[in-house]
Amino acid sequence: MRILILGDVIGKPGREHLSSRLFKLRKEKNIDFCVANGENSSTANGISPNSLKDLYNCGVDAVTTGNHCFRRTKDLDTIYNGDIPVVRPANFPDSMPGKGWMVVETPIGNVGIANVMGRIYMNPIDCPFNAVDKAIDEIKDKADIIIVDFHAEATSEKLAMLCHLDGRVTALVGTHTHIQTADDRVTENGTAYITDLGMTGPIDSILGVKKEIIYNRLANYSSERFENADGPCSINGVIIETDRNGKATSIERVIE
Ligand SMILES: [Fe+2]
Ligand SMILES: [Fe+2]
Repeated sequence: MRILILGDVIGKPGREHLSSRLFKLRKEKNIDFCVANGENSSTANGISPNSLKDLYNCGVDAVTTGNHCFRRTKDLDTIYNGDIPVVRPANFPDSMPGKGWMVVETPIGNVGIANVMGRIYMNPIDCPFNAVDKAIDEIKDKADIIIVDFHAEATSEKLAMLCHLDGRVTALVGTHTHIQTADDRVTENGTAYITDLGMTGPIDSILGVKKEIIYNRLANYSSERFENADGPCSINGVIIETDRNGKATSIERVIE
């Protein structure tokens, strides 16, 4: 199976860019299944019922999230208990809406997806290593292909997760930094890995936000609200190819 996995889609600019490119990209690259991180897909921030639907209409089959997954308090039930496959990090408390893993059926096999969040330079949360083990236990009898989106800041924590999951999952991909790393590889044990997928959003920005706003916050102590940047966007992600046992055979970075 050929699977396209996309980093955080940033607001309306990111969704519009995706809608203008994704169907063509799927066709050109022979993509069977597409996963995208939607934690910043809503205009203000977070994910909303509309931004989730929009991602699905753009050609995304399944959505992962991250630290902004519960921003739209009123809409959580609509987002996480609706028909569109979406997960939130598994290491939030079980009492919170949604689930940290899912299995999506496709005509050529099931795809298991787990989402966990890191703990270094992030808000306190349960152990991601224990949480991912539990998620894999739930998925493994239902799907040979398992994709893990590890939403984390520190490269060390993401590589430690690779030690933990090597050979047990098809792909471990990092999100949250919005900057694509150049360390994509497939391990000897058949796990595709990249420290961060990058983002799908405005290029001339800081993490998708108007650069002046972030600059003024950091350099001049301002407290302006975040606003998505304008201008040309790019899609950041990877394409992985799997064999029939769910092992990864290749990984290719995509910037479109
Ligand atoms: Fe993000
Ligand atoms: Fe994030």
